[in-house]
Amino acid sequence: MKVQVCIIGGGPSGLLLSQLLHLQGIDTIVLEKYSRDHVLARIRAGVLEHGFAKLMREAQCGERMDREGEIHHGFHIAHDGRLDRVDLHRHSGGNSVIVYGQTEVTRDLYEARDRLGGNVVHNAEDVTLHDIASDAPYVTYRAGDEVVRIDCEYVVGADGFHGVSRRSIPNDVLREYEKVYPFGWLGVLSRTRPVSPELIYVKHARGFALCSLRSQVLSRYYIQVPLTDKPEDWSDDAFWAELKRRLPDEVAGRLITGPSIEKSIAPLRSFVAEPMRYGRLFLAGDAAHIVPPTGARGLNSAASDIYYLYHALIDHYRKGDDKGLDGYSERALARVWKAQRFSWWMTTLLHRFPDRLPYDDQLQQTEMAYLLSSETAMRLLVENYVGLPF
Ligand code: APR
Ligand code: PHB
Repeated sequence: MKVQVCIIGGGPSGLLLSQLLHLQGIDTIVLEKYSRDHVLARIRAGVLEHGFAKLMREAQCGERMDREGEIHHGFHIAHDGRLDRVDLHRHSGGNSVIVYGQTEVTRDLYEARDRLGGNVVHNAEDVTLHDIASDAPYVTYRAGDEVVRIDCEYVVGADGFHGVSRRSIPNDVLREYEKVYPFGWLGVLSRTRPVSPELIYVKHARGFALCSLRSQVLSRYYIQVPLTDKPEDWSDDAFWAELKRRLPDEVAGRLITGPSIEKSIAPLRSFVAEPMRYGRLFLAGDAAHIVPPTGARGLNSAASDIYYLYHALIDHYRKGDDKGLDGYSERALARVWKAQRFSWWMTTLLHRFPDRLPYDDQLQQTEMAYLLSSETAMRLLVENYVGLPF
């Protein structure tokens, strides 16, 4: 089989790119290791910046997001027993974010691919990249006993942090930057009314917490926990009690609790792989970079890669212009590092760090006081949270 672009990974990055390219008449195949049900069972952050939302609409996938997603003009920061509001609308000159679960984004993308008859292969085992440094790359995968070969012009590695694509770049070319935080987030999803219609990020001496939501009847809460904790260590009661301890009294008093319908621990990690292009292979999304979830930059960082790659491939196929492809890695990485900076800053501002110097605690307090007293500092936060331009 022969296609123009072979995309590895059927997460949001791979699906969005294949949908956008299909609409431009560029032929793709998506190879996904797992079943659709498995991919749609993953629960991830749910805040979309306007640039990502625009790309979803351009891909003709924005209808349900616009109907069911909630537009948020602000969020809150709880600290020292009080609650301060961050006004996204005011400090960004009219921008906002959309609260809409990433699982729903992925579901909409799959449905769009189905509608157009897009080629998405599930349960593609042993995906292997070949000759990516040549002009004739190809990819093989196994379906049962059969090995299938896909000849292509370009390979896009959108197979997430644990995928094979990044590992196909030779060791003497690939540079990796990593920071692992000494804690994780324990997340609970519950069919309860959210404690606040807007998100609350909580800085507390016992550790960070976050009150988020998927809709007005579905809540998502997180608390910072040591990496040694397991979800089984936390009964629902213990989770709610700890969350309440970290919330200002007035908020804790109106928290509605209920049985958890999902409970998991996510470690916090920052990671960047450079370059994002090697020969005919282009990396996109989590395959090349990971951020801690504070600030919800993960999906939004993937979106800028897809935007650059999509336009670069159109220029190549329409005009024979390869400037976009040649400049992809540098351009994508410039924005990736800005998302890394912001996620690190927000993580550092809000979490409790074990074994930290009292000096660092004083700086953290000062950072918070400065943020809440300075229009300029607030504008920096908001500009990054609603999304830097692509
Ligand atoms: N072969 C084929 N597919 C693979 C392989 C492989 N060897 N390894 C992983 N995959 C698939 C995964 O099963 C997954 O469905 O690639 C997909 C990658 O999807 P994600 O991990 O969701 O990454 P991405 O699409 O870049 O999404 C961006 O935004 O909020 C963040 O981390 C969050 O997933 C999110 C990301
Ligand atoms: C979530 O709703 O899961 C969520 C929201 C905001 C974040 C992280 C996670 O910063």
